[in-house]
Amino acid sequence: MKLRSLLLAAMLLLAAVPSEARRKPQKFTHETVDIPAVQPRAIAVETAGTQLVLQVDARGTVNTVHYGAPAGDPAQFIGFNQGGHHNFDAPSAYPTAGGRFNGQDALHVRYSDGNQNTELYYTSHEVQARDGVTTTTVRLKDYVTALEVDLVYDAYVPEDVILMHTVIRNCGKKDIELRNAASASLNLTPGKYLLTHFYGGWATEMQIDQTLLTHDTKVIETRRGTQTTQGNNPSFLLSCGGSFSETDGETIAGALAWSGNFRISFEIDQSDRLNIVSGINPFASAYPLRAGQSFTTPEMIYTWSCNGAGGASRNMHRWARKYGVWKGGQVNPTLLNSWEGAYFSFTTETLLRMIDDAASMGLEMFVLDDGWFAREHPRNSDKAGLGDWEVNTDKIPEGIDYIAKYAHSKGLKFGIWIEPEMVNPDSNLAAEHPDWIVQSPGREIYQSRNQWILDLTNPAVQDFVFGVFDRTVSLSPDIDYVKWDSNRRIMSFGSPYLGDEQDRFFVEYIQGLYNVCRRMREKYPDIVVQCCSAGGSRIDYGSMRWFNEVWTSDNTDAITRARIQWGTSLIYPPCVMGSHVSAVPNHQTGNVTPLKFRFDVAAAGRLGMELQPKTLTDEEKALADRCIQSYKGYRDLVFDGDLYRLSSPFDSDFYSLMYVSADRRRAVVFCYCLRFQNHSIGGHVFRMQGLDPELRYTVSELNVDSSRWWGNGRQFSGAFLSNGGFNPVFKKANTSMVFLLEAAE
Ligand code: GLA
Repeated sequence: MKLRSLLLAAMLLLAAVPSEARRKPQKFTHETVDIPAVQPRAIAVETAGTQLVLQVDARGTVNTVHYGAPAGDPAQFIGFNQGGHHNFDAPSAYPTAGGRFNGQDALHVRYSDGNQNTELYYTSHEVQARDGVTTTTVRLKDYVTALEVDLVYDAYVPEDVILMHTVIRNCGKKDIELRNAASASLNLTPGKYLLTHFYGGWATEMQIDQTLLTHDTKVIETRRGTQTTQGNNPSFLLSCGGSFSETDGETIAGALAWSGNFRISFEIDQSDRLNIVSGINPFASAYPLRAGQSFTTPEMIYTWSCNGAGGASRNMHRWARKYGVWKGGQVNPTLLNSWEGAYFSFTTETLLRMIDDAASMGLEMFVLDDGWFAREHPRNSDKAGLGDWEVNTDKIPEGIDYIAKYAHSKGLKFGIWIEPEMVNPDSNLAAEHPDWIVQSPGREIYQSRNQWILDLTNPAVQDFVFGVFDRTVSLSPDIDYVKWDSNRRIMSFGSPYLGDEQDRFFVEYIQGLYNVCRRMREKYPDIVVQCCSAGGSRIDYGSMRWFNEVWTSDNTDAITRARIQWGTSLIYPPCVMGSHVSAVPNHQTGNVTPLKFRFDVAAAGRLGMELQPKTLTDEEKALADRCIQSYKGYRDLVFDGDLYRLSSPFDSDFYSLMYVSADRRRAVVFCYCLRFQNHSIGGHVFRMQGLDPELRYTVSELNVDSSRWWGNGRQFSGAFLSNGGFNPVFKKANTSMVFLLEAAE
C-alpha cells in the first residue's frame, strides 16, 4: 500500500474511535502537594506621598490591601481581613485562573497536560534601592507546576509613581501556554469610581469618555495590532470620590507602556471592591513558553494624588520627563514641516525657499516630510514608493545632503520623514520580499492607504527597518531630526516567518519594533525622533521611551486641537506634543481661525508651522516672527514646567491652562475663547493655580502690539491671581491671550 493510502486508513480508523476514548486519562489522587506555611507579613511599596501595601497571610497568599495616602507602619495590615470568612475572597495581588479563582484573572496558563489551574504562593521578597527608585520583587511559586512569578514594583519616590510588571518563569519540564499574562492587578477598596478614558480616531485623538463604574466589568482595549491608540488609549484616570475634579480628591492615573494590543479591565466585584487588571491583550496570543523560558510583561504605570486629576497628571508628567520619554524635558526646536505646505509636489527650489522663509520667521528647523524618495516607483502620491528608500533625484537632483547643508547654512537644523514599517505594493521591496509582508496564507492582503505592513517578528525585517533609519540619516551628516511615521493598523494578521507559531505574532511584532528602536537609540542617542502614526495613533509610554516627541494629531485646526491637546495632557507631558500652525481654511476641518489664535494654541506644545510660508502676507509673517520670539522666551516652562489646567474645552466656552516653573517664580498662562455667546459673559474669571500666594507677579500679555487687558504690566499677588479675579475679556470666538508671569525680585 502506498504511504498516502496508509495514512488515510489510519485517519479513518481514528475517526471511528469515540473521542472520549482517545483522551489521555489523568491520574487523580486525593494527595495534595504541601504548601509551606509562611510568617504573615506586610510589604510596603512607598513613595514620598503614597503607599501600596501587600499583605502575605499564613498560607502564603499575597493580597493588595492598600493603595493611596501613606497609612503608617505596614505591619498594621497583618491580619487585615478583606475577604470575609477565611479571607478566601481577599483581593489577590495577582489573581490566577485556578485555585480560589474569583472571576477576573491576571494570569491564565495552560499546562502541557491540558490543566489550566495555577495557584501562586509567596516564597520570598527583596528590596533594592538606587537613586530615587526602590524596586520590590515579590517571588511567588506554584508548587504543583513549578511555575514561578515575580511581581516587580518600581517605586519612583519623589515623583509618587509606581511601575508594576511581572516576570513569569516556566521552571517545569514541559512547554506551557500563557493565555493571559497581565502586567498588574490593582485592588481598591469599595467606593464610587469615575473612570475617565480616551478614545478617538484619525484627527480626533484623545477625546474623553467618562463613566461611573458599576457592578460589572468595563474593558478598554484594542486589537488593532499597531496604531493601538486609535480607538482607545492604554491609559485612564480614576476619580475615587465618583466625580471628576482637576484640583481636589483622590485620583489615580494609570498607563500601560505597550504599543500593541492591550486590555485594561475594571471589575467591581460582589464585595464592591474594584479590581483593575492591565496588560497585553490576550487576543489571538496564547503565548508559548518553553521549559526554562521566561516572559516579562510590559510595565503598568500608576500614580495617586489627593489633588485631583491635575495632581495625578503632574506626577505622571514629572516621572515621564525624567524616565518615560527619550530625553524628556529637553527643549526641542521650533520647525517648519513641508507636509501641508507642499504635500508630494516639490522640487529643490520649493524646499530652499521654504527654508529661507522659515529662517526669516525665526524658526529653528526645516523638516522634509513625505515624497522625497523612490525612483522606479516614485513617491508622488501615497500610491507608490514606500519601501524604496533612495532619494528621488527627479525631484531633488542635488540630494538630501545639499538641502540639509543649505538649511544649516541658514542657521536651521534639518529633519526628514520615513515610514520604515510599511511597503506599497507598487514598490521594488514588495516584489523582492513578498514573505516580509504581514499576511494570512491564501487570503487577500488588505491595503490601507494603499500600503501593506512589514512583519517585524522577522529578524531580517527588523534589520531592514533599522537599516532604513540608519541609511536615511547617513544621507547627510546634517540630519538632526527624523519623523518616524506608521500609517496603518494590522489586518489579515499573520507572519510567514512564524510558521505554525502564529500565537506569537501580536506580541513579537511589538517586541520587534522595540528591538529596532533600541538599536536606533544605541547608535543615535542625540537625533530628535518624532513618533507619528497618522497623527497620534501611537501615543503611549511603550514607544515614548524611544522617541522625543509625538505628532499629536494630523488635525491642525486650532479649535478641534484644543480638545486633543487637553485630552493628551491628562496623561502625557506637554513636552512631547508636536503642535503646528497651518493654513486656513484648515485642511482637515475647513475651519477658519485667526493666525494669532492658531499660534497661541500651538504654543502650548512644541511649536511648529506646517504651511507654505509664501502664502503669508508680510503682516502675517511679522506676527509669526513675534509669536515665535515670545515662545522662545517661555518655552522652557512648556517643556519642563508643571501644567495646571484651569478650564476645560470639553465643558466650557473658555479654555485655559498654565505652566509654572519648579520654583514658582515664572509662569505662562494661555486663555482661549472657543465660543462667544454674548457680551455679558465676556469676562470669564480664571483661577490660576500653582503660584506662590505670597509672591507678587508682573503679568504681561504676549503676542500683541499693545495689550487691551486692563491689568497688563501690573503686579498682582499669587493669592489674588489664584483666588481673586483674573478675567481677560474676550469679545469674539477663536480669540486668545497669552500672559507671562514673572515674580518681582
Ligand atoms: C501621515 C502623517 C502626516 C504626514 C503624512 C505623509 O498622515 O500623520 O503628518 O507625514 O503621513 O504621508
